[in-house]
Amino acid sequence: MDNERDLAAADRVVHLLRHLGIERVHLVQGIAEAAAHPGMVASLALVTPAVSASSPLHQVAVSGTLVAPRLLIHSDAGPLSAAAAFVRAADALGLAEGGAAVDVGCGTGALTRRLAHRVGSAGRVIGADINAYLLREAAALARRQGLDQVISFEVGSAEALTFPDNRFNAALACTVLDEVNAERALAELARVVRPKGRVAVLVRAVDIPAWDSLPLRSELRAKVAARPNAGVTAGVCADGSLYRRFRAAGFRDVTMGPRFAIDRAEDALPEWRAYYEGSSVGVLSEPEATEWRAVAAHASAERSFLWASAYHCAVGTKP
Ligand SMILES: C[S@@+](CC[C@H](N)C(=O)[O-])C[C@H]1O[C@@H](n2cnc3c(N)ncnc32)[C@H](O)[C@@H]1O
Repeated sequence: MDNERDLAAADRVVHLLRHLGIERVHLVQGIAEAAAHPGMVASLALVTPAVSASSPLHQVAVSGTLVAPRLLIHSDAGPLSAAAAFVRAADALGLAEGGAAVDVGCGTGALTRRLAHRVGSAGRVIGADINAYLLREAAALARRQGLDQVISFEVGSAEALTFPDNRFNAALACTVLDEVNAERALAELARVVRPKGRVAVLVRAVDIPAWDSLPLRSELRAKVAARPNAGVTAGVCADGSLYRRFRAAGFRDVTMGPRFAIDRAEDALPEWRAYYEGSSVGVLSEPEATEWRAVAAHASAERSFLWASAYHCAVGTKP
């Protein structure tokens, strides 16, 4: 979404939702932002140029079709499970009062604001993103929280940051290396951080199938486990190669490993649960989908229905 046409498309989606009577519309990108925004009733998974699919967003805006799978409506507030993993990655940077940090691919800035709280009024945080629409929202949210003296936002690419070498104490990129050229982005994160500075990276784990506790027949289980993972293109990192790449970038004192975001059916937002159901039954035949739903209904009734999605995370120090 780096051009005016896409910016206009995003505005049209908001307009459309408001027209349909959904008043408190706020476009976000990233689960961290969704969790941090209690007033939110709608989140739209904006498609970025890096996954070369801005057309679905455009279609939604133009055709007015609100059944696009990329549209997620939240009718409720409340923490989404993945947010905890994201926040842990941000906190692992160990930022101190007065520090300087950059949040690369900051989206609407939930984690940028988290970093700003860590560095306090004497610190400085920059949120960089390729998407001007999201940055506009990010700036408004930061202002609302009185953080605009600490945070500034800049349009920029994770693959070629505009900052000088050794500028920051810490750099964060949360679910961004799965959308950009990971090699270049990692090199940039390492470049802009000072020696002894910290870097934290978290990506979706497309190599770890979503897990759930449903007692499915093995045939159904295998089909559901083999569902395709969407949105990953060449050069991005959305699997365990993160660990090899992170070491190759030269970081020391590395902690790394998968993080799981766990949802319980009875606690999850209805739409979040529907999203999980949709992605599961989407690969099944109609009779199989009916069977899946029956098993899920039973597990829900006995409060034993959990599911989890995975992320890979690495945190390290620049030598
Ligand atoms: C899934 S969102 C994550 C947002 C935020 N980090 C969070 O965790 O809530 C991915 C973000 O990466 C941004 N992005 C995609 N390609 C980028 C690039 N080449 N340079 C900078 N940001 C990029 C998108 O615009 C989007 O805001």
